[in-house]
Amino acid sequence: MILQIYLYGSDVLRKKTELVTPDYADLKQLIDNMYETMYNAEGVGLAAPQVGRSIRLFIVDASAMADEYPEAKEFKKTFINPSIIETYGDPFTYSEGCLSVPKIREDIVRDSIVKINYFDENFTEHTDVYDGIVSRIIQHEYDHIEQILFTDRMSQLKKKLLKRKLNNIKDGKDRPSYSSRIN
Ligand code: CO
Repeated sequence: MILQIYLYGSDVLRKKTELVTPDYADLKQLIDNMYETMYNAEGVGLAAPQVGRSIRLFIVDASAMADEYPEAKEFKKTFINPSIIETYGDPFTYSEGCLSVPKIREDIVRDSIVKINYFDENFTEHTDVYDGIVSRIIQHEYDHIEQILFTDRMSQLKKKLLKRKLNNIKDGKDRPSYSSRIN
């Protein structure tokens, strides 16, 4: 089932997230629905708060980017209760977008490498190190479960320049083609 994506300005994007328990109701169904929702919106990552759930869960499928980024090949993973242990490596700039902030892309600087601990959909624990575009997507999605949007990482000047566009999203005047809502 395709879920509505909460857009910029929605309270749930700024609400503190809870840990996911293995007996969380319909967790598998929720994850399946999140993948369907992400693919429908042509995204490469989606976090639970973006579909109105204040829990520590996000999904990534970077495989569509494999032509340009070899590390993205067949990279499809579910991250439950993740915690970033550290980020390091040369900071690099990448033009990010977000399904909750439609039609806006902006250069964001982040460390290149992320070391992250998480549980997969079978509640098996992993600690992995990722680099490249995969690391970038993970850091962006992780921000969502920490109530951070990529707009928060823009310079004040860039944010000022985008203010009208952001207000249009918040006010419901600019909607994406996929199913969405504000609050
Ligand atoms: Co996002």
